[in-house]
Amino acid sequence: MSETAPEQQCHVTLDTLVSLCKRRGFIFPGSEIYDGLAGTYDYGPLGIELKRNVREAWWRSMIHDRDDVEGIESAILMNPRTWKASGHVDTFSDPLCDSLGPSRKRYRADHVPPMEATAFEIIDVSDEAAPRKVDDAQIWAPSKKKAKEIYQAYWEKPLGLSGRRVKLEEVAGSTRVGRFSPDDGGLLTEPRAFNLMLTTHCGPVVETAAQVYLRPETAQGMFVNFANVQSSMRRKLPFGIAQNGKSFRNEITPKNFIFRTREFEQAELEFFCKPGEECREGEMNDDQWWEHWVEYRTNWHVRYGLKREHLRFYHQTKEELAHYSKACCDIEFLFPIGWQELEGIANRTDYDLKQHMKESGKDLRYFDAELNKHYVPYVIEPALGVDRSCLAFLTDAYTEEQVRDDKRVVLKLHRDLAPVKCAVFPLLKNKPELVAMAEKLTLDLKKKFHTVYDDTAAIGKLYRRQDEIGTPFCVTVDVDSLEDQAVTVRDRDTMQQVRLGIDKVRGHILAELQAARGTQ
Ligand code: GAP
Repeated sequence: MSETAPEQQCHVTLDTLVSLCKRRGFIFPGSEIYDGLAGTYDYGPLGIELKRNVREAWWRSMIHDRDDVEGIESAILMNPRTWKASGHVDTFSDPLCDSLGPSRKRYRADHVPPMEATAFEIIDVSDEAAPRKVDDAQIWAPSKKKAKEIYQAYWEKPLGLSGRRVKLEEVAGSTRVGRFSPDDGGLLTEPRAFNLMLTTHCGPVVETAAQVYLRPETAQGMFVNFANVQSSMRRKLPFGIAQNGKSFRNEITPKNFIFRTREFEQAELEFFCKPGEECREGEMNDDQWWEHWVEYRTNWHVRYGLKREHLRFYHQTKEELAHYSKACCDIEFLFPIGWQELEGIANRTDYDLKQHMKESGKDLRYFDAELNKHYVPYVIEPALGVDRSCLAFLTDAYTEEQVRDDKRVVLKLHRDLAPVKCAVFPLLKNKPELVAMAEKLTLDLKKKFHTVYDDTAAIGKLYRRQDEIGTPFCVTVDVDSLEDQAVTVRDRDTMQQVRLGIDKVRGHILAELQAARGTQ
């Protein structure tokens, strides 16, 4: 995953973003009133607007702006043989081990590398005349100090030793390198494969119903529909099928806010093209299409607001590549948690279609009329996580500025992605004529773009509120407006204000939004 480039620090912490998202209605912990459900988040009123805008920007760029990609929406529940063919039933797993200590915590084996530790026994010395060794309890830790911390956090209460005097005694000659829980100091079991697919049942009686999987990726929906789309849309190679939607993975350690969750959204394209040997003079082969997609997708991230210097590429080595993959480039972003994968672009060769041919018995070969032969296309797959994309856009948009004696927090989101495009305020809320004028303008603007009305605070505070959620335009109706039928339009980024006739506002903002889409 990581390259040798010097490590950079992100300008904003994850805590700052999490707090802003909660406070301003972007993202909440899932089922919070029941203390949440690990690995799930709910998008609030502003978060869902942002996410819809990210989806739509992706859809426009992948489908509407091109003439070689079709969109679909396949079912989340698929015939389980799909996942046998794709390899997910047999190989989509993480190696897991359990702590034998009191927490019984479960870890991904590669997250707990072997460490040198010593075993410490727990001796109850409350009765000085008769010290007592506590059962077989042994805490493995790199030092006695650490063992004491672990004892207090994890062992004291479950062993019923609260309030008793204990000492920890090193077991002579026990120091060794092994796998131990970094939390409770327990020994770890040998790693076992744990499949990451979540299951449910199709049918009214659980005992007899078919077990099905919640899809762990959207990609297979495109592979199983390859022949349907190709024939119904009369497509010739090269062409792509794209979709976005929910995917589910029983991640062992969901963490870092919406970066790694158990339920998340993907936006994926399977681009079917000719393998090198079938290409004629001047036709792009699979390697060239792969390069095209790496560049196309990188430009999309930059166009919508990620700083180019916050993106880098990681090319997987031969050893890291999945067995079906010929090449894979991870587009990494400088998240608040460091450089991490945002999108992967893989050359999946003809693996998936061939696997589905084998499992289903259906012929999924492409008939090339010009060459008068059948062959199985190669596939290039750009696979984006929509939630990670939202987190990345929030990260690079987050800006703190000093404005005179005040700190201004502003989300400099691309105008297409901003949840709200315009906010309208009456300068005085106790002047009914001003309020009526502002409400009428809001209704008019709403017809063209998402606009809100607010009169719940003083004007300075209202501006700051909208800055913090990334609203590109604020319109103020003041006392003069009643006379001159003009209002003040303020730009989020420059904070500059222009006076415009009230009948010109809609056109002005529309033109600005259009310009942002066209030129960036
Ligand atoms: N079809 C290929 C595929 O699914 P992947 O690298 O496993 O590839 C693609 O997933 C993208 O989906 C990742 O780059 C990431 O952005 C997103 N993603 C994967 N697992 C995720 C999770 N648990 N939570 C949030 N996003 C995830």
